[in-house]
Amino acid sequence: MPTLTFIGHSCCLIESEAGTVLFDPFISGNNLASLKVENLPKISAVFLTHGHNDHVGDAIQIAKQHDCPIVATYELASYCQSKGTKSVPMNIGGTYKDEWGQIKLVQAFHSSSYTEENGNVVYTGMPTGMIYTVEGKTVYHLGDTALFSDLGTIGLRHSKIEVALVPIGDHFTMGIEDAVEAVRLIAPRLSVPVHYNTFPPIEQDPAEFKKKCKQIDAEVKVLKPGGTLEY
Ligand code: NI
Ligand code: MN
Repeated sequence: MPTLTFIGHSCCLIESEAGTVLFDPFISGNNLASLKVENLPKISAVFLTHGHNDHVGDAIQIAKQHDCPIVATYELASYCQSKGTKSVPMNIGGTYKDEWGQIKLVQAFHSSSYTEENGNVVYTGMPTGMIYTVEGKTVYHLGDTALFSDLGTIGLRHSKIEVALVPIGDHFTMGIEDAVEAVRLIAPRLSVPVHYNTFPPIEQDPAEFKKKCKQIDAEVKVLKPGGTLEY
């Protein structure tokens, strides 16, 4: 059984027999993160949903230290490669398989760019959602997104989504009410709220998300930073 750990913000770790993968490792910049970069287990691959700094975070350092690839859109993966990492450049609709499992990129309705230390803004392609399958179990990380009706198509195409990682913070992504509708469209077995309470503009009550999902018979598990679930 794979184990998912919510590290904080949109950063999640998934450990399985096949390897350990890390989504959106915004760790050293997040006071609420459950661990420090140096305390990560051995990472097999880093997945980046898009280029914003609260998602790329420590990815380049981690990919170098763990000698593992960064999987992302062509533009973002190539940017990381130019900074010295291995990379798997992909695009929306595509699937890539490796010994640590299978990753598919799907659309997200958002924007995507990376701001360098000197303020220079780099174009990093389209934002994505990422569908990760290992040991026959599928997790859908929605990335940063607004509500859009094709979430229903994604749910239908991937009818055995065990866990959906759903942004609820509002302001930069959908808020709670739209997130509940996203859950209804995707129909995963379980949803975990992410991308809230890290900064003042995205303060939200995950219990409210859970309550509203219960009204449509959708199960939610709220994880505190460091919280885990087997799926
Ligand atoms: Ni973003
Ligand atoms: Mn974000």
